[in-house]
This record gives sequence, structure tokens and C-alpha cells, in this order.
Amino acid sequence: MSEDFTPKPVAASAVSEHVYKVFPNDLNAYNTMFGGAILATIDRLASIVAERHAGRVCVTASVDAVHFMAPARHGDTLVFSAAVNRAWGTSMEIGARVIAEDCLSCGMEKRHIVSAYLTFVALDADNKPTSVPPVVPESEGEKQRYAEADMRRQQRLAHAEAIKRHRAGV
Ligand SMILES: CC(C)(COP(=O)(O)OP(=O)(O)OC[C@H]1O[C@@H](n2cnc3c(N)ncnc32)[C@H](O)[C@@H]1OP(=O)(O)O)[C@@H](O)C(=O)NCCC(=O)NCCS
Repeated sequence: MSEDFTPKPVAASAVSEHVYKVFPNDLNAYNTMFGGAILATIDRLASIVAERHAGRVCVTASVDAVHFMAPARHGDTLVFSAAVNRAWGTSMEIGARVIAEDCLSCGMEKRHIVSAYLTFVALDADNKPTSVPPVVPESEGEKQRYAEADMRRQQRLAHAEAIKRHRAGV
């Protein structure tokens, strides 16, 4: 558990090379990898990133977007990476990316399979949301993801407010 709110660089909590070999028991009825299995690994890795950044137990509050860009196939090697994009009060956006390396080309051919964005919330000993350290984006890519994370958050908050007003008949 951590009370240290010193801003932290993205690299301090990132997971960069989690590999997974696709076997027949991972496939769906169309003989490509079942998307839910990929999502389970993304959620698991993202929780590790969030907990490393926050120094606290963290829970998934929302999966804000999942983009399946290309199918993964039997024999592919999946390479997962995940990193904190931005932190606010008690929540953080974690971005995840999955690349497939083709087994026939011995990893020379790489395909972008999934991009996903998840929001995690840090909890204190009473399971209440608790503050997290700010993120320091360093590279150009990190700065871009830092800015875009806030756009996604503003969109999510505006959407929630619009639904609330709709249900209230306003
Ligand atoms: C996530 C959770 C802790 C939020 O609790 P809460 O009492 O609603 O929290 P608050 O309204 O005080 O908001 C706390 C933070 O969570 C964020 N949050 C709450 N609901 C959210 C949602 N649906 N999506 C994204 N962020 C959310 C808020 O924006 C706020 O972030 P900020 O402090 O950075 O501004 C609570 O809803 C929960 O426990 N959900 C279940 C989590 C879970 O079981 N996950 C699956 C297993 S890990």
C-alpha cells in the first residue's frame, strides 16, 4: 500500500512483452481466436499496470473501448502490452495493445489485433476509492495517449450525463 503521490513515468508500471501462443482450444466456431479470451488477458495485465502505478488494490470500473482490428489464428504468437495513459483523482486509464506474430513467417509478419482502453479505480483498506499519483508522459506517443485519454473521459462523462437527463425526462 502506498501514500506516495509523487508523479510517476509511464515506464514505471508498463507491461511490454507478455507472450501467448494460440492453440486449438483458444479458437471460436470460425477457427479464429475467441475475443473474450484476449479480453481476459488484457484485463489481467491492465490491473497489474494500475496496481503498480497506484500502489493500491485496483478494480476495473469500465472497459471504455475494445477495437478488434484483425483476427488471430491458430499458431500465432500474441504479444500483449499495457500502460497507464493518464490518472485523475482516483481513476486511471490503462491502454492495451495486442500484436500477432505469424508462426509461418517465424515472427517476421506482425499484425495489430486489438487496441483497448480500460478505467481502473484504486481502493483503500475500506474498499473506497482513493487518490492515485499523476502520470508523467515522456515520449511523443505517451503525450498523445495522455491527451486522448482525457478526451475519452470527457466523452464518457458527457454520455453518462446525457443518459441521466434522458431518463429524468429533461
Ligand atoms: C469502480 C467503483 C469502485 C467506483 O465506486 P463509486 O463509489 O461509484 O466511485 P465514485 O463515484 O466516488 O468515483 C470514483 C472514481 O471512479 C470513477 N468511476 C466511477 N464509475 C465509473 C465508470 N463506470 N467508468 C469509469 N470510471 C468510473 C469516477 O470517475 C471517479 O474517478 P476520479 O476520482 O478519477 O474522478 C465501484 O463502482 C465498484 O466497486 N465497481 C465494481 C468494480 C468491480 O468489481 N470490477 C470487476 C472486478 S475487478
